[in-house]
Order: sequence, then C-alpha cells, then structure tokens
Amino acid sequence: MTDISGKAAVVTGGGSGIGMGLARELARQGAPVAVADIIFENAQKVADAINAANGRAVAIRCDVCDRESIRRMQQEATAALGPIQLVFANAGATSFDPLTEMSDDDVDWIIDVNLMGVMRTVRAFLPGMIAAGGGHICATASMAGLLPGWIPAHAPYSAAKAGIIGLMMNLRLELAGHGVHTTSYCPGGVATGMKVNNARYRPAKFGGPGTGEVHVGEESHDVAASQAFYRPEDIAPIVLNAVRNNRAFVFDHAEQRPLFRETYADIVEGCYDDIAAWEKEHGLPAANPTGAMLVNPAG
Ligand SMILES: NC(=O)c1ccc[n+]([C@@H]2O[C@H](COP(=O)([O-])OP(=O)(O)OC[C@H]3O[C@@H](n4cnc5c(N)ncnc54)[C@H](O)[C@@H]3O)[C@@H](O)[C@H]2O)c1
Repeated sequence: MTDISGKAAVVTGGGSGIGMGLARELARQGAPVAVADIIFENAQKVADAINAANGRAVAIRCDVCDRESIRRMQQEATAALGPIQLVFANAGATSFDPLTEMSDDDVDWIIDVNLMGVMRTVRAFLPGMIAAGGGHICATASMAGLLPGWIPAHAPYSAAKAGIIGLMMNLRLELAGHGVHTTSYCPGGVATGMKVNNARYRPAKFGGPGTGEVHVGEESHDVAASQAFYRPEDIAPIVLNAVRNNRAFVFDHAEQRPLFRETYADIVEGCYDDIAAWEKEHGLPAANPTGAMLVNPAG
C-alpha cells in the first residue's frame, strides 16, 4: 500500500484538466501538493483553490521540456513541502496529424514533452524518494500508447506514450528494493481543455506558443468525436486508489476491454505461433554459441 495522506506530492501539468483533478483530490485526501505547470497563472489558480478549501498547495512554474526548469521545480517543491514522495508526471501535449505532414519541430515537441518530460521528472525526483525511504511515481500515459492501432494519425504521440509505459514497467524492477512503486495511467477519454489550449503549451525551442484549437485530421476525426469522456474529478479518485494499491496500470474505459483483448490476442497468438512452428521444425536455438552479446552478421 502507498499512503496518500501526509505524503508530499508534485503534479506536473497540474494547472488544468487531469492534473488539476489529481492535485485537488490529493489535497482532499490529505497530501500537501506542488502544482507545477508551464502556464504559471493556471498553477496558481489551482493552488489558491486548494488552499481556500483548507488544503495545502504551492504553485511552481515549470517547463518539463527544460531539465534546468525541472531541477528548480524539484528544489522549490522540496523546500516548500519537504521530501516529495508522490510524483504525478502528467504534463503533456497532443497532435492528430499524419507523420509526413508534421514539421520537425512538431514531432520533436510531442516526443520531448510527453516522453522526455516524464523521464526528466522521474530522474529529478527519484534520488530524493529513495533517500526518503519510498514513494510512488504515477505517469500519465494514454490508451494511445497501449492500443496504438486505435486512433489514426497519432504516431509520435502513441510512440511517446508507449515509451512512458516501458519506462514505468521497467522501473518497477529497478526500484523494487527501494519501496518506490510505479503506475502508468492510460486515459481513454477525459473531458479537458487540451484540444482548445494545446498550442499554448509549445515551448520556445519548438517554435513557441500558438493559438487556435489542435487540428484533428480527417483520419482521426471520427474516433476522436465518438469518444465518451470522464470528468477529471471523477477519474482522480480512481487513479489515487490504483496508486494506493500499487497497481501497474489504471484504465478508465471498461468498454475498451474487447479491443484490448483483440489487439493483444492477435499479436501474441500470431507471433508465438510463427516462432513455435520454427522451433518445432528446427529445435531451440543454441545458448549463446559465440559467447558474444550480438550475433555477428558475417557469420
Ligand atoms: N484528456 C484525455 O482524454 C487524455 C487522453 C490520453 C492521455 N491524456 C494525457 O493526460 C495528460 C493531461 O492532459 P489533459 O487532458 O488534462 O489536458 P490539459 O491540456 O488540460 O492539461 C495539460 C497540462 O499540461 C501542461 N503542460 C503542457 N506542456 C507542458 C510543459 N512543457 N511543462 C509543464 N507543463 C506543461 C499544460 O499547461 C496543461 O496544464 C497529458 O499527458 C495527456 O497526454 C489525456
């Protein structure tokens, strides 16, 4: 079990949407919270609302695309609230354009904010969590990372979100002896302002903030429009319950179970059938015959 009450928490992207819901619910359950966001005014509004409701929160400006900004945020959060033991690496941005029609800046931004932003956040807080004797990292990935065949024209986003899942799952092994647990939250549809505000989140090094709604290309339009949406305040207690129980994943759309099964059953059965047939004909490969880590292609 991971205790929530009394443990200091940080939420990146805490100024709106899912992050705001998590920050408020953390405070409601007794955790002091650092609300970190690239849009400081939003982080401040969330922190003010939490403090007005008898919780405890600080707002911190932070761009997760900038390692130095995360380092400063980690220092400010720790100075204000003590050792941080609950980290919600949630900041992100989206795109729904075919890969070949995206600019290099767009692709780099989507990978950087979603995947490297989580990586940098984890690396900034992990040493302190280990020193404090344990904690929990919950990264907001996406169903697009687990079911990359679901929404078309979502390639760099799906790749980044799949990367988060690999990071969280592998860290579970690395951190087993340190009392630090990890969770991948995979939203399948939560009603937030991302579509309207996405362009505002673009850091200067990827072209700077813009205006206007995120463009949803023809290919993805029908899937995006037909989605049912949870509200952030409904989903936050479900996420915290999974954190409390050290679950590896949190899902939020039960109706996606058949698609999940279909996706993985096809892949698992198809791929293992192929290699099982080869092994039946040729036998198992010899154990590391050259002693090398890689097979020498020359022979
Ligand atoms: N809403 C959904 O249906 C959905 C589905 C799958 C995944 N997600 C993921 O959930 C997370 C939260 O998104 P949301 O739906 O609440 O949208 P949102 O737009 O309300 O929240 C995103 C937050 O991240 C902040 N942010 C963006 N770039 C940042 C940066 N470089 N540094 C720090 N903060 C930054 C924004 O200011 C904003 O407050 C994202 O990682 C998103 O990819 C959302």
